[in-house]
Amino acid sequence: MPKRIPIIIDTDPGQDDAVAILLALASPELEILAITTVAGNVPLALTELNARKICELGGRPDIAIYSGAIRPMVRNLVTAEEVHGKTGLDGPVLPDPVMPVQKQHAIDFIVETLMSHPAGTITLCTLGPLTNIALALVREPRIASRIKQIVAMGGGYFEQGNVTPSAEFNIYVDPHAARIVFDAGIPITLMPLDCTHQALTTQKRIEAFRTMTNRSGPATAAMLDFFERFDENKYGTDGGPLHDPCVIAWLLQPELFEGRLVNVSIECESELTMGATVIDWWKVTRRPLNAQVMRNVDAEGFFTLLRDRIATLP
Ligand code: BDR
Ligand code: CA
Repeated sequence: MPKRIPIIIDTDPGQDDAVAILLALASPELEILAITTVAGNVPLALTELNARKICELGGRPDIAIYSGAIRPMVRNLVTAEEVHGKTGLDGPVLPDPVMPVQKQHAIDFIVETLMSHPAGTITLCTLGPLTNIALALVREPRIASRIKQIVAMGGGYFEQGNVTPSAEFNIYVDPHAARIVFDAGIPITLMPLDCTHQALTTQKRIEAFRTMTNRSGPATAAMLDFFERFDENKYGTDGGPLHDPCVIAWLLQPELFEGRLVNVSIECESELTMGATVIDWWKVTRRPLNAQVMRNVDAEGFFTLLRDRIATLP
């Protein structure tokens, strides 16, 4: 078997984060070095608890989980309980986890790991606000040239925003962190709303998880039932967008996605457009090409991958 891809998943679970984690747990191509948690969809204490619940659901209590930033760098924390529920993981009833949280802070873990592994080997998969990654870059700027790539869910251009008319949640929550990350010269692949809004959790797709004979499939269906109700209402679609698993799916099957290498700059000044990802899709500036921005996903292929993999979990 070819060498596994070493990854760190930085996340704020969240049902769609949870499905992304399950997909990673089910994928032998990936070596999960750790999961680091950040405040986002719900406060930090809950994102850390939820990450542990999901690892135990997926039969991997051995995964190391590190707790990270409790709030964004500059702004006050904005959460999204209206989407994810009070716990951040409303839907299935999952047991309280027994696996531990590591003592080391996530930011120290990220720095130490990148500095001690060969340069250009570790991929960061970011599923929430970019606070942990930015703080790690501030703490040890030399990590920038050691990160192989960042694959991030965030932003939007053609679809604009989901939390304000111009900003997507992950970038809006910590735009200052996002600016540090996008300006650091690290290769980035971005999954914006333009792409994730095509990956809809239709009834038919959810049923495929519900009818699995393992525990992870029906739990996924219960999470998606809860998660989609807010967006179905908002967008009037059959199903809601399944954002975060696109990050992991791209690592496994990049051919499911299409996009282009462009400049992404983050708005941090105007309150009206705070957290907007200004994507130079038509290359009208000479700004550096800092991110491969995905525009389309083969939604059928994406859900087939998810189904096939989650079926292999306990
Ligand atoms: C992003 O925001 C969160 O609510 C989801 O988990 C996803 O990471 C979508 O805008
Ligand atoms: Ca998320």
